[in-house]
Amino acid sequence: MDATARKARKAAVGTALPHDSAHLHVSGRAAYTDDLPEPRDLLHVAVGMSAKAHARLRSIDLSDVLDAEGVVDVCLAADIPGENNCGPIVHDEEILAADTVEYVGQAIFAVAARTVEQARRAAQLAKIEYEELEPILDPLAAVEKDSFVLPSETLTRGDPAAAITGAPRRLQRRITIGGQDQFYLEGHISMCTPQEDGGLLVYSSTQHPDEVQHLVAKATARAAKDVVCICRRIGGAFGGKESQAATIACIAALMTVRTGRSCKLRLDRDVDMIMTGKRHDFVVDYDVGFDETGRIRGIDFSFASRCGISADLSGPVNDRMMFHSDNAYFLDNVNIESHRCKTNTVSNTAFRGFGGPQGMFAIEYAIDDIARTLGMDPLEVRRRNYYGVGERDVTHYGQTVEDNILDLVTDKLETDADYRRRRAAVREFNRANTVLKRGIALTPVKFGISFTSTHLNQAGALVHVYRDGTVHLNHGGTEMGQGLYIKVAQVVADELGVPVSAIRINAADTSKVPNASATAASSGSDMNGKAAQIAARKIRTRLTEFAARHFSVNESAVDFGDGRVSAGTETLDFAELVQLAWFERVSLSATGFYKTPKINYDRSTSSGRPFFYYAYGAAVTEVVVDTLTGENRIVRVDIVHDCGDSLNPAMDLGQVEGGFVQGAGWLTSEELWWNDAGELQTHAPSTYKIPTCSDLAPEFNVTLLENAANREDTIYRSKAVGEPPFMLAISVFHAIRDAIATDGNPLPALDAPATPEAILRAIEGMKP
Ligand code: MTE
Ligand code: HPA
Ligand code: MOS
Repeated sequence: MDATARKARKAAVGTALPHDSAHLHVSGRAAYTDDLPEPRDLLHVAVGMSAKAHARLRSIDLSDVLDAEGVVDVCLAADIPGENNCGPIVHDEEILAADTVEYVGQAIFAVAARTVEQARRAAQLAKIEYEELEPILDPLAAVEKDSFVLPSETLTRGDPAAAITGAPRRLQRRITIGGQDQFYLEGHISMCTPQEDGGLLVYSSTQHPDEVQHLVAKATARAAKDVVCICRRIGGAFGGKESQAATIACIAALMTVRTGRSCKLRLDRDVDMIMTGKRHDFVVDYDVGFDETGRIRGIDFSFASRCGISADLSGPVNDRMMFHSDNAYFLDNVNIESHRCKTNTVSNTAFRGFGGPQGMFAIEYAIDDIARTLGMDPLEVRRRNYYGVGERDVTHYGQTVEDNILDLVTDKLETDADYRRRRAAVREFNRANTVLKRGIALTPVKFGISFTSTHLNQAGALVHVYRDGTVHLNHGGTEMGQGLYIKVAQVVADELGVPVSAIRINAADTSKVPNASATAASSGSDMNGKAAQIAARKIRTRLTEFAARHFSVNESAVDFGDGRVSAGTETLDFAELVQLAWFERVSLSATGFYKTPKINYDRSTSSGRPFFYYAYGAAVTEVVVDTLTGENRIVRVDIVHDCGDSLNPAMDLGQVEGGFVQGAGWLTSEELWWNDAGELQTHAPSTYKIPTCSDLAPEFNVTLLENAANREDTIYRSKAVGEPPFMLAISVFHAIRDAIATDGNPLPALDAPATPEAILRAIEGMKP
């Protein structure tokens, strides 16, 4: 069915349905992990954390902790019955530090008590003697000392060195890109309940229940079959709960195994921010050769990222960074060097965009520099370097860009946002004003969809139809606010021809759908939508066969829609057909399995096709900056974003708006700051500033590209939308840079985030 036929049918797919839990969210009845009924014997867990960035643990005296009011038990590394590891890919991170601590905030012990307050108070009473060691506190120091969590990688095409030296013009620059805390509203949490005969039931606020199941099993010396992990919803994750929720779940489970009682570990905001990983901050050096038209001849990048103490997801994050340091641009001659630095800070992890934003930020900076050097409109230089159609269309990692709609998106946005006229108006404004300065920028996004590790691109679903014609839906995806569950329910509703209200959307549960990948890489609806469609289609096929038999018609004469089934001249309710089928012993339950087609990527040779397709978008941002204080405001944003044939335009619009605002926070106000002792000083909303409603642009125009069906056979030709819009916010940064650039100095050295302080530093630096 195409979009028009679906509309005629009152189909669910393509409709702007509200989030399935919207009524529960707004009335406070949506149960997050901490809202679940507490078992009668529940204990609360707190964690004792390292006070040092790098030290040998000389002695740990927990006697006062054990003596404290309400305390039932404590646990140290040596008490762990199974494997003391929470590293998701490389086994290089301990759940509880055994001999050495490597960052301030690292978990050393856990304590279980009758109340949360008792546990948290007791955790402060440990007497720990440290033998301090030299810490490495930033990526550049790590590079100098060859301190890496993983080997460095390089990706080269053409002859960049020759292309750069042979180019008419050349520029070099070092850029720093800040990290970012996920700042989900619900902090990390897990509750574990013992089941009979050694079983464990783990509720976890996790994007990856399967990984929680496996890591909990290993830590508690069990097998996967003995552990079930359930997650109905997450109060925001943004990548922060892709790998690191497992650590929290492991600690809760360890205390459950020791005490034989249910245990809950809930981090408070400060502990969450100190103890769990964030977006990687980067230092990037680039060296670019270009011609007078602004076209890049060759470019060399050297990236150093702060990975923290362990590999965690830093390998794939930095790989994705390398895949996206072209953004929308054809780079003929390019060299990308990527250092994955080991620092004595918390282990950094996934965050919306997963390295993509940092790679794209670097190339956009270079492009902006080229334009400013040549005195051209940066948009001209961007367009000049865009991937071509049928030529100049092979990426530096060998994938051909087959679905390029950069020109279409840019043309539409340039017109809709009235870019030309407003650029002139900005120039006019700046001539007339000395203190307030305006700036405007249009930046594009091209984002690769699929996990870059090919094997992760698989999903499963489980669909039951009950005798009354209602439907139980499960799949391996997790709901973190992005609207995945309603989208998949829409797909199943249309497949069975029933209303969405006939479907009960159920929690992710490892005992229902096994071996699921994390809900990440924006692929949740692509993969789970297909898996659920396949499961529902199996049932529909059985029902079709049955109806054809029962009513003596051809299978092609059987049709489902609007809660009814027609078979030749007969029509009946879906529920009636289901009753009849049940009576005739037709199976009404099915699993679905999907694996993304076409992709294959060989990391060892950096060749193949890591991405099924690309998602595109572009944004124009206009800002005003007070050049005496560095204060700034976004005055207008225009976005054109490509969601393919949207499964649910309401959800997608929310993702585009939310992603953009979160990206703007990353590049303007959110600043992580560690002191010389390696202590994070920005671990609460008082010192770490995320955008609020009042930071929204007063004029915020978001358009989802129409008639933009995905060229690949995705679920209803939709496109993934979770991460790509985040990177539209790079336009905010360049609008600020545009505002503070002057004729005398068109190249301000502005670091990200462009806080008022950073803006003032850049302005100061421009003075002769
Ligand atoms: N939207 C909300 N409301 N909350 C979140 O935690 N996470 C983002 C994005 N949008 C997130 C969100 C990230 S990092 C990803 S990878 C995708 O959602 C994951 O969900 P999807 O694959 O279903 O889009
Ligand atoms: N994106 C997000 N999460 C991931 C990826 C990816 O490409 N690979 C492994 N985890
Ligand atoms: Mo998203 S960073 O892939 O969880």
